[in-house]
Amino acid sequence: MSEEKKKIIYSAMQPSGVPSLGNYIGALKNWKNLQDEYNCLFGVANMHAITVRQNPAELRQRTKDLVALFLAIGLDPEKHIIYVQSDVKAHAEIAWILNCFTYMGELNRMTQFKDKSAKHADNINAGLYTYPVLMAGDILLYQSDLVPVGADQKQHLEICRDIAGRFNGVYGDVFKIPDPYIPKVGARIMGLQNPERKMSKSESDNVNNVIYILDEPNVIRNKIKRAVTDSDTEVRYSEDKPGVSNLLNIYSAVTGKPIDEAAAEFKGCGYGEFKTGVGEAVVAELEPIQQRFKEYSSDKAYLEKVMKEGAEKASYIANKTLTKVKKKVGYPIYK
Ligand code: TYM
Repeated sequence: MSEEKKKIIYSAMQPSGVPSLGNYIGALKNWKNLQDEYNCLFGVANMHAITVRQNPAELRQRTKDLVALFLAIGLDPEKHIIYVQSDVKAHAEIAWILNCFTYMGELNRMTQFKDKSAKHADNINAGLYTYPVLMAGDILLYQSDLVPVGADQKQHLEICRDIAGRFNGVYGDVFKIPDPYIPKVGARIMGLQNPERKMSKSESDNVNNVIYILDEPNVIRNKIKRAVTDSDTEVRYSEDKPGVSNLLNIYSAVTGKPIDEAAAEFKGCGYGEFKTGVGEAVVAELEPIQQRFKEYSSDKAYLEKVMKEGAEKASYIANKTLTKVKKKVGYPIYK
């Protein structure tokens, strides 16, 4: 990483499907915007991904594709660290130790565990249950200051802070206590067909509910045209208009215009015109990324180089914290 003095950002994304517009607005876009001010680590969280059954060949491919996408949105592997979680052994090691500093009562409260257990009732495994502990380890290994995520990860950040505080309470200041960075606009992008629930990349039953970052421009336009609105005709940001408000959020996030300004721009427009405007704004944002993705994803040698170098750089930092942690808990020390 470039300058040591800068504060540290850590964030990661699961390779559990093609990332959605929600992933982009809630996380990726902010990673890109924050990278000049911080030293950053961006992880492909493939260890988290196997808490749900995956096809191995697909998972391997999606892992590489996610690295290519990180590059395509403009993350710089020369200045920052882009790496794959399973390439850094320290993650598995620290997760075990932190498991011993996490209460079942805390894990029982995690809403994402409850949601995922309901969705995968035939595979409620221990990894799914201790998922937040693995995530806490990700963040704490790198002494991170800030974690840019969408609103759905807020609870996981809170438990991470609690675990770190508990460990520090016993052994002294081992871990930096990280702060979440949750954007004001776009922290929770909702489904286009079901604006009561968040847009999710791993949803497969209704493709029209989700915009995938790599959807063809016309597919994006059509999905937005089909988005659920309401029987009213007014473009207005309001709790009782979840579909319209979601589209305004999307528009605001991709154009950088405040919600009020976005709503004013479409005042008096019909929903058809409004949706066309939102669709064009999303296409304008994603099309250049898609172009760069094509270039990066076809350059296998470069991708592998980024992954290998990222793993080395991340391991170096992670091992420093891990060594400290092992000493603290009383593992043997060899000269
Ligand atoms: P994941 O892969 O589910 O999502 C990646 C990021 O996208 C955000 N996000 C959204 N933001 C707005 N609207 C949405 N509809 C939406 N859907 C997803 C998520 O909040 C997240 O920031 N557990 C994490 C991955 C992870 C991680 C970490 C994150 C592993 N270790 C350490 C931060 C720090 C996850 O499943 O993200």
